[in-house]
Amino acid sequence: MSIDEAQVRSTAGEVVEPHLRLPLSVLGMVRSVRVKRHRVSVEVVLPVDGFPAAVLTDRLRAALGVLPDVHEVMVEPSVMSDEQRRRLRMVLRGEAARGPTGDPGELSDHDSHDHDSHDHDSHDHDSHDHDSHDHDSHDHGTQAGSAPALGHEDGRPNRFMEPRSRTRVLGISSGKGGVGKSSVTVNLAVTLARLGHDVGILDADVYGFSVPKMLGVRGDPLIIDDLVVPPEANGVRCLSMGFFVPDETPIIWRGPMLHKALEQFLVDAYWGEPDYLLVDMPPGTGDVTLSLGQYLTKTEVYVVTTPQAAAQRVAQRSAYAARKLKLAVRGVVENMSWFTGDDGTRYELFGSGGGASLAADLQVPLLGQVPLIPALREGGDEGVPVVVAEPDGEAAAAFSALAARIDELGPARVYRKELTVR
Ligand SMILES: Nc1ncnc2c1ncn2[C@@H]1O[C@H](COP(=O)(O)OP(=O)(O)OP(=O)(O)O)[C@@H](O)[C@H]1O
Ligand SMILES: [Mg+2]
Repeated sequence: MSIDEAQVRSTAGEVVEPHLRLPLSVLGMVRSVRVKRHRVSVEVVLPVDGFPAAVLTDRLRAALGVLPDVHEVMVEPSVMSDEQRRRLRMVLRGEAARGPTGDPGELSDHDSHDHDSHDHDSHDHDSHDHDSHDHDSHDHGTQAGSAPALGHEDGRPNRFMEPRSRTRVLGISSGKGGVGKSSVTVNLAVTLARLGHDVGILDADVYGFSVPKMLGVRGDPLIIDDLVVPPEANGVRCLSMGFFVPDETPIIWRGPMLHKALEQFLVDAYWGEPDYLLVDMPPGTGDVTLSLGQYLTKTEVYVVTTPQAAAQRVAQRSAYAARKLKLAVRGVVENMSWFTGDDGTRYELFGSGGGASLAADLQVPLLGQVPLIPALREGGDEGVPVVVAEPDGEAAAAFSALAARIDELGPARVYRKELTVR
């Protein structure tokens, strides 16, 4: 019996590329298949030189190795031509722009069989391709707050703002620094992912980025020409300024630069269609908050505070700022609520009642209280979020309860008329 070459090809095409999260046939990454007696060789075209292919190679070996009569599987990597890569970007942009009802099957015309063909008109999102546009020629105004709302004016979709987008954008905010915004963002994100949701984090704390380290991301994002593929750790994908500037470099940018950075994180990144995009917002009410108010008008704001009355007043200001930008403030999360001693006694080191009274002032629910747990800080420092390190611990329980409440709340009521679903 001989090996069925067509079967090898179709099996290879069904293997999902781990970073781009689509089947190889959709991505046009299987170039050729050869069969010689009991041996199959698959030539895989990688998007860029140095593209990590170890996991993909394992997946291909596993998938093909179980086919009848296959004794040996060879995976031969090569790199895409400019034309192939252009086409891949179109697929990724199209996929990213696809609404929740989009059927990935529609993309089957991008099957690797026709990778030599140069017809591109089969894809309805081709218009989003913007090869010929010069990014830098778009001037986003000269002062903070004057940036244009991100839309389709240059043909690049902000898919999170499309009416059909199913992504809930959760802005994690606080009035002042150090209350645990990033810790809450990361642990909540990992918890939501563990509940089976597709989750991303946008680290919008452009000056004080900390998400990659806390989440445990190793390695840089993949860059495919002008498209950034967010790296993943602990089941959560993330983009951060931390990937693009060395740690010790201070970021001294004016509003328009920040605006542009956020734009790239949203528009020039391949996020696909996550269920949740958590945004770690910088403390206070600066330029980034303004930009987000314009880009992501559907952002649901969750205010993190500590039990202290003083923290609560500052947090209140950030909530008012969010409301001024017409963002929906959905709830309050109190962090560092208590410390549980070995004997089970709770010590309220930072006082009590701050979260509840802020929630009452803002007329939103207090959605959760996270205790002060040394392992939470250690987890953040080591890049192993506490909900992963101690899945049965007190912190994991608090974040599970919080995630469940947020999930139950459902998406925010639509505020702005341009968001009205037609
Ligand atoms: N519940 C907690 N238990 C123990 N340590 C915590 C807790 N929450 C936060 N921390 C620690 O407190 C410090 C500040 O937390 P984090 O960085 O999450 O706050 P932030 O509000 O994002 O701060 P920044 O304004 O600097 O971005 C970190 O060292 C973190 O590990
Ligand atoms: Mg932070």
